[in-house]
Amino acid sequence: MTVSTAVTGIGSLVTNDPSLMSADNPLGLVPDAAVVIEGDRVVWTGASSKAPTTDNRVDAGGRALLPGFVDSHAHLVFAGDRAAEFAARMSGRPYGAGGIRTTVAATRAASDDELAGNLARLLAEARRQGTTTVEVKSGYGLTVHDEARALRIAARQTPETTYLGAHVVAPEFADDPAGYVALVTGPMLDACAPHARWVDVFCERGAFDADQARAVLEAGVARGLTPRVHANQLGPGPGVQLAVELGAASADHCTHLTDADVDALAGGGTVATLLPGAEFSTRAVYPDARRLLDAGATVALSTDCNPGSSYTSSMAFCVAVAVRDMGMSPDEAVRAATLGGARALRRSDVGTVAPGARADLHLLDAPTHLHLAYRPGVPLTAAVWQAGERVRPEPAVA
Ligand code: NIG
Ligand code: FE
Repeated sequence: MTVSTAVTGIGSLVTNDPSLMSADNPLGLVPDAAVVIEGDRVVWTGASSKAPTTDNRVDAGGRALLPGFVDSHAHLVFAGDRAAEFAARMSGRPYGAGGIRTTVAATRAASDDELAGNLARLLAEARRQGTTTVEVKSGYGLTVHDEARALRIAARQTPETTYLGAHVVAPEFADDPAGYVALVTGPMLDACAPHARWVDVFCERGAFDADQARAVLEAGVARGLTPRVHANQLGPGPGVQLAVELGAASADHCTHLTDADVDALAGGGTVATLLPGAEFSTRAVYPDARRLLDAGATVALSTDCNPGSSYTSSMAFCVAVAVRDMGMSPDEAVRAATLGGARALRRSDVGTVAPGARADLHLLDAPTHLHLAYRPGVPLTAAVWQAGERVRPEPAVA
């Protein structure tokens, strides 16, 4: 028998439910709300006073509830860290794509169990902070064997797996980048495609140019993968235009955009995924979210969690930075971190709290979602349900 649970006494509920959203209520907020979940699904939302009878009841005590965060861009299959590189950077050394090779060496040397354990640790860390969907990329193996094993390991822990064999040219191919692209689009793709949903490429000076990136993405598409692109992170470049042209789900970073790039993203088919943790941790200029939103683009916020450019799993941190430094309102940032991430992963079952959605709920120790940006650095997560299961129990709300 499926057990039903009502979370009642929610002071402010963010639904992202299209039937409740309007210009005046962009998040579909419901005050004094309740949510009923049954099995792994939301089955009812509405006024707390009208909540139907259920098997179990949890009193939110006037606190805010929102959809679990959807982190649509993370690099979590790796070993080691690069704290020393971070410290050197904070003393003035610039960030470059080359640091990736340090993590490649550590990742290749690690056992499967070490990689799976580190991934599980990071996913649990994210969950404790309200994140219930995480995309995970390969990209620190750069051999057929190591990329395939990264994706095999990732696929056991998330359905959102991304083949990023084209992260940088593997050190063995330093003098033969064309040979490496042939590997990535050939035998490596054959080994990785069965474990991946998405294909990604780091289209950037020092990584892959437009022709190479196109070859990688088109080969992935031919194998049934959907593209997403690391685009325009370190400087202007062709990544965004390529992403839009190929119908990518998302163009990620979008830090250095021309007006033509913004226009291309305004079409809406390709989500602009902004990753403020990377600019924070590389002391770079933030992307201009306001410009993208005003043009009509769909914006997502994600952590980019990785040991080099952004070693944070905190979506709340990204929300706070986006509000403080990227021109987003608190409503827009919360929406980008939930519904925006869902759009970037082409998922309609997550990022909302509405009947039929997966029961991914994030209860805050705060009266409204505004506190995520208003109280930066404060651990506000009181409880988390993932697919209807209480994964962050907290006695105070039981
Ligand atoms: O998204 N830009 C490329 N990849 C990562 C950085 C990876 C690293 O430095 O290890 C990013 O920022
Ligand atoms: Fe990234």
